[in-house]
Amino acid sequence: MKVYEISKTASSLDDLHLRERPEPQPGPYDVVARMRAASLNYRDHAIVTGKYRYNLDHDTIPCSDGAGEVVAVGPRVTRFKPGDRVVSTFFQIWIDGIPPKNRGALGAPMDGTLAEYVCLHEDGWVAMPASLSFEEAATLSCAAATAWNAVMIAGRPTKPGDTVLSLGTGGVSMFALQFARAAGARVIVTSSSDEKIERARKLGASDGVNYKTHPDWPAEVQRLTDGRGVDCVVENGGVGTLAKSYLCVGWGGKVCLIGVLAGPEGQNNPHDLMFKSASLHGISVGSRTVLEQLIRAIEVNRIKPVIDRVFRFSEAPEAFRYQATQAYVGKIAITI
Ligand SMILES: NC(=O)c1ccc[n+]([C@@H]2O[C@H](COP(=O)([O-])OP(=O)(O)OC[C@H]3O[C@@H](n4cnc5c(N)ncnc54)[C@H](OP(=O)(O)O)[C@@H]3O)[C@@H](O)[C@H]2O)c1
Repeated sequence: MKVYEISKTASSLDDLHLRERPEPQPGPYDVVARMRAASLNYRDHAIVTGKYRYNLDHDTIPCSDGAGEVVAVGPRVTRFKPGDRVVSTFFQIWIDGIPPKNRGALGAPMDGTLAEYVCLHEDGWVAMPASLSFEEAATLSCAAATAWNAVMIAGRPTKPGDTVLSLGTGGVSMFALQFARAAGARVIVTSSSDEKIERARKLGASDGVNYKTHPDWPAEVQRLTDGRGVDCVVENGGVGTLAKSYLCVGWGGKVCLIGVLAGPEGQNNPHDLMFKSASLHGISVGSRTVLEQLIRAIEVNRIKPVIDRVFRFSEAPEAFRYQATQAYVGKIAITI
């Protein structure tokens, strides 16, 4: 089978190679899927270019998210049968509850989804929503689960009338926008670009703040909320923007710490959170239950993942190069 592979010392996109590997055979509890699509997360680019937070210990197939069709199952598998359409879970295996310490993720440290066939334990797949294409379904495992965890699970779930602030217009942010709107909340986005803010408005954002032209964007967020602040911050910037998120969150609100886009370091005094009875939540993607919950919400609310561009399998390196431009809104998918 054809796979993309990076060496464990990969440091640039030139280290991403199309290779041949034997087709996987299922063990007793395994499910093999013919992959039809994968999608890119910020993390995947960091892994391929050697900038991820830990080093690989083997030559690895990149990407954590994918969707495909079951072609073989082990004799003890009960959850799926050949012909079923499936989506891989980000962590192998975290079914529910608090995260287990040693959960492995696809794309690093485990082999990922940018391959013609993927073999996982049956617990590492969920049923694909019938309302989505393979490309759309391939965007859910990481970005959608993270957004659902932040908006609907961490601390107090978002409710009608709340205001959610989502930073940036990438994959996590656009899913957070869609889930918050489905929950009846108002959504404000930040972005580096007025054109991207316009695209977010078309997807249901009420307002957008350009953080390039408004470096004091918390003041804008306070103005837009009549000084009340927001109920939930989807903190994709990370520690580098956290101090500003503390200024945006309102009384009883939550800041969900997700990203590293603005760097992993910063001065962040959480003192104000105390007076606002606000909270800070670390988000680590989500369990299989989280993925199943959001898939139900997608089907009931007819949510379509926002895909900026789809590349062919042979164009995977171009897909990563396009990702590096940050010119997109939502997700980048690859048809396999
Ligand atoms: N903790 C977790 O479980 C978890 C899970 C998934 C992702 N993440 C992290 O969350 C972040 C977002 O992931 P993603 O896959 O959604 O990324 P993505 O799709 O690649 O989003 C990138 C977008 O973020 C915006 N951005 C860039 N720098 C920014 C900054 N300094 N402040 C605010 N926004 C900025 C840009 O949009 P604009 O031009 O519109 O600003 C950019 O296009 C990444 O750091 C990723 O590693 C963490």
